[in-house]
Amino acid sequence: MFGLFEQDVVGLDIGSSTIKAIKLKKIKDSYELVGAEILNISSESIDEMDAEVRQSLYINTIKKILKQKNIACKNVITALPGDSTIIRYIKMPYMSQEELKNMIPYDAEQYIPLSRDQIVFDYQVLTELEEENQKKLEVLLVAVKNETINPFVDLLKATGVNVLAIDVDSIAICNAYSLSYSEESETGAKADTVALINIGAKLTTVTIAEKGIAHLTRDINIGGHNFTKEIQREFNLSYSQAEELKKQHAVIMVESDELLLSTSPSADDEKSARIFEAITPTLNKLLNDIKRSFGYYENTVKRKSVQKILLSGGSSKIKNIDRFLSERLGIPVEINYPFKNININAKKFDLDYLRANAVFFNVALGLALRRGEK
Ligand SMILES: Nc1ncnc2c1ncn2[C@@H]1O[C@H](COP(=O)(O)OP(=O)(O)OP(=O)(O)O)[C@@H](O)[C@H]1O
Ligand SMILES: [Mg+2]
Repeated sequence: MFGLFEQDVVGLDIGSSTIKAIKLKKIKDSYELVGAEILNISSESIDEMDAEVRQSLYINTIKKILKQKNIACKNVITALPGDSTIIRYIKMPYMSQEELKNMIPYDAEQYIPLSRDQIVFDYQVLTELEEENQKKLEVLLVAVKNETINPFVDLLKATGVNVLAIDVDSIAICNAYSLSYSEESETGAKADTVALINIGAKLTTVTIAEKGIAHLTRDINIGGHNFTKEIQREFNLSYSQAEELKKQHAVIMVESDELLLSTSPSADDEKSARIFEAITPTLNKLLNDIKRSFGYYENTVKRKSVQKILLSGGSSKIKNIDRFLSERLGIPVEINYPFKNININAKKFDLDYLRANAVFFNVALGLALRRGEK
């Protein structure tokens, strides 16, 4: 019994705007949701804060979320933000696990432009494949600079948590997706090449997966924070006022709607149009970077087209962003609902709240799922 408690673990997603926590219970081969919480780190931009103030805000918010009734736990699996990591998908000749372990450090040097004493790295075998009549392994290689991971570990230490593993945002999203992919494929649903796009506050991660396995990850340094800054400038507001205005009134105008624009717009319509104009350059930049990732995948990595986008992250709540991406990229865009294969007791959870905020939880859920692994 005490052992059981010790095995409790929380998937903790430490973002630049919010902190999310997910706790699951594994019952045979399925999972039940025990807790799902989101806390804002601050209503102001953390960028403009003194480093010490920011650090203590993070520490307090992490401590607070881990004390929430349904979360209450000291063991966490967390993630480094993608832009602080180097992720490579490499192919190697087929070999045993033991050989791979010995080989990887030498091979890693070819792919990572930093010396071994500057980084920590880890790897994971993704698939076995055959190419030119040779059996090969596709391996995911992740490296982080010491100067990045050390302050992160110090921050976690200061909160008193017990860190069981540190993952990467994009990999966690793909883990969560793989769970639903494998169940879908068992029921005969179509095997898609999908792009998992998570639009957060500071970062958009694009992960392209085929049959539930990732083959490309790209981080784009654009997110909701940039939109808020544009709105702040346009309306001359404080950061928190601009955040509110964005959440209430940001709407992306899509081509099919432009024809329907009223000839006598209301004050709210005018506000939305001004917001849209202010965020358009950033939005287009984001779109172009996504296009570039798709182009790279389609021309270089796999020569297969991305068939569908699954969208997550807080900024995917901007009204019409799904329709905008779908129109501009010419493929369907769906919300990446992370709880598809998770049992949720309707008596314990407010399902409307979970549905409305589901896009925040993909990373934390992917992290919590690692509990079942070796
Ligand atoms: N209703 C909404 N409309 C528009 N934007 C929203 C809405 N709700 C939240 N956001 C934006 O979502 C962002 C937060 O999303 P999320 O929690 O996924 O980011 P994060 O994980 O903290 O950031 P990152 O991963 O980039 O470090 C903020 O920029 C916030 O303004
Ligand atoms: Mg995030």
